[in-house]
Amino acid sequence: MCSSLVLGIESSCDETAAAVVDDGFRIHSNVISSQVDIHHPYGGVVPELASRHHVLNIVPVVDAALASAGVSLDRLQGVAVTAGPGLVGALLVGLQFAKSLAFVTGVPLVAADHLMAHLEAPFLDQADGGPSFPHICLLASGGHTLIGLRRSPFDLEVLGATRDDAAGEAFDKVAKMLGLGYPGGQVIDDHASRGDPAAVRFPRALRGRGVWDFSFSGLKTAVKQHLARQGPPGDASGLADLCASFQEAVVDVLVERVRQAVDHTALRQIVVAGGVAANTRLRAVLDQEAERSGWRLFVAPRILCTDNAAMVAVVGHRHLAAGRLADLAQNAVSSWSGRPG
Ligand code: KG4
Ligand code: ZN
Repeated sequence: MCSSLVLGIESSCDETAAAVVDDGFRIHSNVISSQVDIHHPYGGVVPELASRHHVLNIVPVVDAALASAGVSLDRLQGVAVTAGPGLVGALLVGLQFAKSLAFVTGVPLVAADHLMAHLEAPFLDQADGGPSFPHICLLASGGHTLIGLRRSPFDLEVLGATRDDAAGEAFDKVAKMLGLGYPGGQVIDDHASRGDPAAVRFPRALRGRGVWDFSFSGLKTAVKQHLARQGPPGDASGLADLCASFQEAVVDVLVERVRQAVDHTALRQIVVAGGVAANTRLRAVLDQEAERSGWRLFVAPRILCTDNAAMVAVVGHRHLAAGRLADLAQNAVSSWSGRPG
């Protein structure tokens, strides 16, 4: 790959982020401004508030990313921005900013798909090029869950996806039921580390050979029914057991789908991405499986699993290399087309 400095911009949900990445993997800066404190009192992301805070944050965040990389605008070979899926009002802030920047500077513009960007995170900081193609990929975030076969950068076959809640969404909803606030993934992960994953046997939906899709809403309902029957956990250890048991059910299903994909494709390289890939138990179980079954596992450091702009810059690098540029008519899209964009 020839040297190319790409500015990535991400504003699809509640993080305003900008990053400068060289050669599609070398991170020069990675600035993330989280709005968690703003949305926390509401128990979830309030779209209008998210948009307003992106407007306030976008200029300082991009300035900080350029300054900490020591890169001026005239050295950029491209600007890549998340165009979807996500909250349209939030996406539009980053997109309009990137379009203006591209217009004023003449730097080529790339419209990045947020899901594909997550799948690029394990390539970051991998001097040996990271995973090679084809490989199996598992994406588990707050909005999406899918297992797929990625044959090349622009060729992703989705084998299965969630029929209802995403894995991260299940973490967030269960955390809310338990009064643990928003977002729920990390806090459940923390409590679960002190609990017994076998304390409560929660259901694992859609099991069995040939079944590729996921479903997490039944698990969420099972936790709700458990709470209705038993009442809220009486002490810290009861809470830890409940969190560990719920988490185990999610992890079991995700890991089982990876095993199934390995059997189906005979591939051994596995990319795991999205916010839920930050989960301690999921990472540990996948590590054990990789060791036992000879998989090569590629999971990014936690900070690159959740929303960031470095992964968006990798998409930028690939699109620039393939001549896939966006223009000023580019719009934001709320839902996923099902195809790598
Ligand atoms: O990928 P992401 O940052 O944003 C989306 O594209 O949705 O994922 C956010 C999701 C949230 O649902 C959050 O609760 C979950 O990832 N998450 C975790 C952990 N950290 C974040 N879930 C389980 N364990 C974690 N440690
Ligand atoms: Zn995301």
